[in-house]
Amino acid sequence: MKKDLLGIKQLNEEEILNILTTASSFKDVLQRDIKKVPALRGKTVVNLFFEPSTRTRTSFELAEKRLSTDVLNFSIPTSSVVKGESLLDTVKTMQSYGADYIVIRHQCSGVPHRLSRFVKGSVINAGDGINEHPTQALLDAFTIKEKKGEIKGLNIAIIGDIVHSRVARSNTLCLLKLGANIRYIAPATLLPNYIPQEIKTFYNIDEGIKDADVIMALRVQKERMDKAFFPSEREYFKLYGLTPDRLQKADSQAIVMHPGPMNRGIEISSDVADSNQSVILDQVTNGIAVRMAVLYLFGGNDNG
Ligand code: CP
Repeated sequence: MKKDLLGIKQLNEEEILNILTTASSFKDVLQRDIKKVPALRGKTVVNLFFEPSTRTRTSFELAEKRLSTDVLNFSIPTSSVVKGESLLDTVKTMQSYGADYIVIRHQCSGVPHRLSRFVKGSVINAGDGINEHPTQALLDAFTIKEKKGEIKGLNIAIIGDIVHSRVARSNTLCLLKLGANIRYIAPATLLPNYIPQEIKTFYNIDEGIKDADVIMALRVQKERMDKAFFPSEREYFKLYGLTPDRLQKADSQAIVMHPGPMNRGIEISSDVADSNQSVILDQVTNGIAVRMAVLYLFGGNDNG
């Protein structure tokens, strides 16, 4: 396996499937009384989150601890970053401690790629701007496979703020590589300029959701919006909110996903988010096993 996990773009189908199979073994470990393995004992991981995170940050930390690594959680607001120290100098400082892995989330697209050229240890992308969120896509693929058995041939509807979503981008790359049929459902203002030709687009959610096997609702990313992309949140929910009535138009066994955090009442109703078709908390649970697999396989050591 490669040294760095920069994006799904750099992975082929075989590498993705290898990560999912390895994650499955780690999921078995996580169901034991003793959930820790010595696989990466002696390795050091630095978690550098320049953007807020709940799920990705905590599940990486748990994954690292379950693999017996030493974990350094770098706190940006109390660091010399606030005195103006550059990202590269910050990372070089961490490297001087002998960090084997840098897990990084940054608001600028391409930061992990740039760092990987300077850093000896493994760089793991935990979300870069609107570019990619590879571990989210991997845990989503793992969850779909777990719930549906097979990804190839499934009809997967991705709904909402696609243009600002690194989750949508990584998921599109990953699920196309695994043979799924993808549909985008969004207002024109929230669709990206470039859409791969094999993806069908719908402006009408009731049409787009028909017979979908998997429905992936996306967060409206207000923090990335510098102008009005839709008239009001009320209007958005009316036109694009995932409600029980709309869910009924999908396949009766359809699963509902959301990467979190959710805006309840904007892109998804609580009735759907908390329904028995929702696998949103399973996605969170699977994040640990998948991130264990990523740390185990990447890093340029002898694991993969
Ligand atoms: N899905 C996701 O990236 O969530 P967090 O921002 O809470 O990490």
